[in-house]
Amino acid sequence: MCGIIGYIGKKPAFPALLSGLKRMEYRGYDSYGFCVLNNEKEPFFHKKVGKISEAEPELLNLEVKGNIGQAHTRWATTGAVTDQNAHPHWDCKKNIFLIHNGIIENHKDLREKLIKEGHEFSSETDTEVLSHLVEKYLDGNLEEALQKTLREVRGTYGIVLLAKDDPQKIVTARLSSPVILGIGQDEFLVASDPSAIITHTRQVINLDDNEIAVLKPDNFFILKEKPTVSIEWTPEEADKKDYPHFMLKEIMEEPETIENAIRGRLMPEEGTVKLGGLDKVAERLKDINKLILVACGTANYASRVGKYMLEEYAGIPTSVDIGSEFRYRKPIIDENTAAIFVSQSGETADTLAGLKEMKKKNVLTIGITNVVGSTQSRETETGVYTRSGPEIAVASTKAFLGQLSTLAMFAVYFGRQRNMSLVMGKRVVSELSKLPELAKSILNLAPDIKKLAEKYKEFENFWFIGRKYNFPIALEGALKLKEISYLHAEGVAGGELKHGPLALIQDNFPTIAICTSDSVYEKMVSNIEEVKARGGPVMAIATEGDERIKELVDDVIYIPKTLEMLTPILSVIPLHLFAYYMADLLGRNVDKPRNLAKSVTVE
Ligand code: AGP
Ligand code: GLU
Repeated sequence: MCGIIGYIGKKPAFPALLSGLKRMEYRGYDSYGFCVLNNEKEPFFHKKVGKISEAEPELLNLEVKGNIGQAHTRWATTGAVTDQNAHPHWDCKKNIFLIHNGIIENHKDLREKLIKEGHEFSSETDTEVLSHLVEKYLDGNLEEALQKTLREVRGTYGIVLLAKDDPQKIVTARLSSPVILGIGQDEFLVASDPSAIITHTRQVINLDDNEIAVLKPDNFFILKEKPTVSIEWTPEEADKKDYPHFMLKEIMEEPETIENAIRGRLMPEEGTVKLGGLDKVAERLKDINKLILVACGTANYASRVGKYMLEEYAGIPTSVDIGSEFRYRKPIIDENTAAIFVSQSGETADTLAGLKEMKKKNVLTIGITNVVGSTQSRETETGVYTRSGPEIAVASTKAFLGQLSTLAMFAVYFGRQRNMSLVMGKRVVSELSKLPELAKSILNLAPDIKKLAEKYKEFENFWFIGRKYNFPIALEGALKLKEISYLHAEGVAGGELKHGPLALIQDNFPTIAICTSDSVYEKMVSNIEEVKARGGPVMAIATEGDERIKELVDDVIYIPKTLEMLTPILSVIPLHLFAYYMADLLGRNVDKPRNLAKSVTVE
């Protein structure tokens, strides 16, 4: 790892820089460098491959004038380990001096563009593009030039910037790479590690991402840069195209939604997944021994499926809370608790209230969100986007599959950090990769499901029943039906029927039973028989090849076989279609059902 340090104050800068770099040596590096400004002549400049401790005798003998300077230990990421590639890096006029921790991901494009504009480079590093961009934008205000520079940059950075023609100033900026300001007596320091500062002061300010600080001999201030986020959606994606309703379009996009969620994230050879949003907390996640999932409505039902996944495959105790309840209860938390907030819009007030509460208690907060730049995505410490694209219909459909796919990947991610075997990891990852095709095959059943809706639209009350992974799908199927058709529908755990709900069963009260071939199949068959024995009509969601179920129920919709843990991602699709056709046949306003809003931003 590398280190940065800057000094501005009444004392000579070089000794503070040298001792600061030595205190950061433990982080590991391959080369180092210094730059110290002084008003009388050219800046002092020295950079080399090797260890500071080896060069210390020579360095200590140097007479270095000047009270403003910077120093760097490099851990090369781009460009060989050479004296030229060591930091600081400068611009064409040797006016700008810059040191950097991190990686500039789009450095190649920036370098090409700058060379075309006449800039000459003296190193192979990614960092040097920053010096030339600052030179390009410098127009009398160094911090403004850095602001403009960083708007063109993608990557991570902790930067310390000096300019010969603006010598009474240090400008520093941070994105994902730590930067700490030391507020001393008549001096200010900036460093990537508190160990470089504490011999001068213990009063520090941790710079946050997208902040730029300006240090002067007698004062400092911090600018907050509002980062622009790129909306990945295209106008046509937010268009109904030739579908009669957004909801039907979004159901038809469900296979693609699964594909979008898993694309580039499955690692079949390693039997795991790569979730970039979790990288910066990966080490902390290894110590997490309790998860709390917080969400509302359909997202809450996705979270309930996630609970089963995370407990069975990652072995982490997981609880699920409705946002509006969570904010008023007193959850038992400690430093090994993480809270995961699941939301399509990222703006649901009840969910955000819980997020605020957990942040106050310093709980690690993770978001599973669809909308880039939404409040939830900005307020959670980190997170993963579901990449479901714009969901316009009030009834959430494809976003639900994006959430389930992402939660399945969380289960693999956490599981492989713990006891999930390579074999099991490979198995889950392989089955996940097949889901988009399997989901497509279910959509081919749409005409049959529409026929079933024509048969069942005469009824006014429905039970949805399921167990284990499919209990939340029963809840989701009921919510979808009731919220767009206005018919009464309730989800209940299969095992709960005998504790009361059976009382309602009669020939005009059908039950939709999710009875896939899994660990609770026989129990669900018993539930179906209980309902049939009391004259209730039953429609089943079952697994292809199950001939027995046909003898037991009035109607059956078959879905392909997959891992039990992944079944919910398939079993919900026929229920979304069923709800859609029921509502459309009843002439409802399918995309904008009465009394409801797409994003509930009020309590
Ligand atoms: C689902 O069909 C509903 N529209 C509603 O329950 C929704 O899921 C809930 O309001 C949560 O929204 P969010 O995912 O945007 O947080
Ligand atoms: N990416 C820059 C380089 O390779 C900085 C590396 C570091 O953080 O030290 O020079």
